[in-house]
Amino acid sequence: MIALITGATKGIGKAITEALADRGYELFITSRNPRELEDLKDELIAKYDVTTVHYHAADLSVKKDRQELIEQINKSCPQLDILINNAGVYLASESMLKEEEHVIRYSMEVNLFAPFDLTRALIPLLKKSRHPHIINICSVASLHAYSGAASYSVSKHAFLGFSRNLRAELMPQKIKVTSLLPGSTWSNSWAGADLPRERIMEPEDVAKVVLCAIDLSPSAVMEEVMFGPMEGEL
Ligand SMILES: NC(=O)c1ccc[n+]([C@@H]2O[C@H](COP(=O)([O-])OP(=O)(O)OC[C@H]3O[C@@H](n4cnc5c(N)ncnc54)[C@H](OP(=O)(O)O)[C@@H]3O)[C@@H](O)[C@H]2O)c1
Repeated sequence: MIALITGATKGIGKAITEALADRGYELFITSRNPRELEDLKDELIAKYDVTTVHYHAADLSVKKDRQELIEQINKSCPQLDILINNAGVYLASESMLKEEEHVIRYSMEVNLFAPFDLTRALIPLLKKSRHPHIINICSVASLHAYSGAASYSVSKHAFLGFSRNLRAELMPQKIKVTSLLPGSTWSNSWAGADLPRERIMEPEDVAKVVLCAIDLSPSAVMEEVMFGPMEGEL
């Protein structure tokens, strides 16, 4: 069983990668930093019972990098069982109406067009799996206005729209599509925030929900799940 995780080196992506390594999946991991990918590969092989970890560095905001990544995945993987579209960028901005145009364009490239390109290109590999599954890491910001990061919220709304349409379109082909909508979760985005750690979720909480989605029987699909900190969103 082969799983591909974007944004695998940190935060939520790393927790999901470790959970899948623990289950013995062959892995394909990607992010921008080749050194961090190589270190994570070594860490996974040392810590878990995984023998094969492929990696390729790509900046998902760049179309050419996305194409090279897709070529590399096709060279390395005879099939794909799980695609986790996790990589995302959060850019804070005071005002959507006043922010520079590049903020929303960059957010849309990474948070929408990258998973859009990757997913469409990888459908043939997913179809070779007996139980293919696409899991999209959306956000509570996919549902609500988000003051302080409006372009992020716009791009995550679009990503949820993509994920819902994908679910409808792939239903007859029995390719599962799951949209996860986590709330605040510890990651780099929160580094330096003056908060007690227990006030927000752990990345491993998101990984546990991914495992729940994967563990459902072939006749069931987890379509959308929203979950967040015990004491509410920040
Ligand atoms: N943390 C939260 O509170 C929260 C809540 C709801 C949803 N989410 C969503 O969960 C996902 C993961 O978030 P996170 O907080 O775990 O993020 P994170 O800790 O910042 O990690 C992001 C991962 O994506 C990679 N990445 C970032 N920009 C990239 C690019 N342009 N091209 C390729 N890879 C890139 C990073 O590696 P490099 O920097 O080396 O490329 C890293 O591996 C995102 O989609 C986010 O929107 C997060």
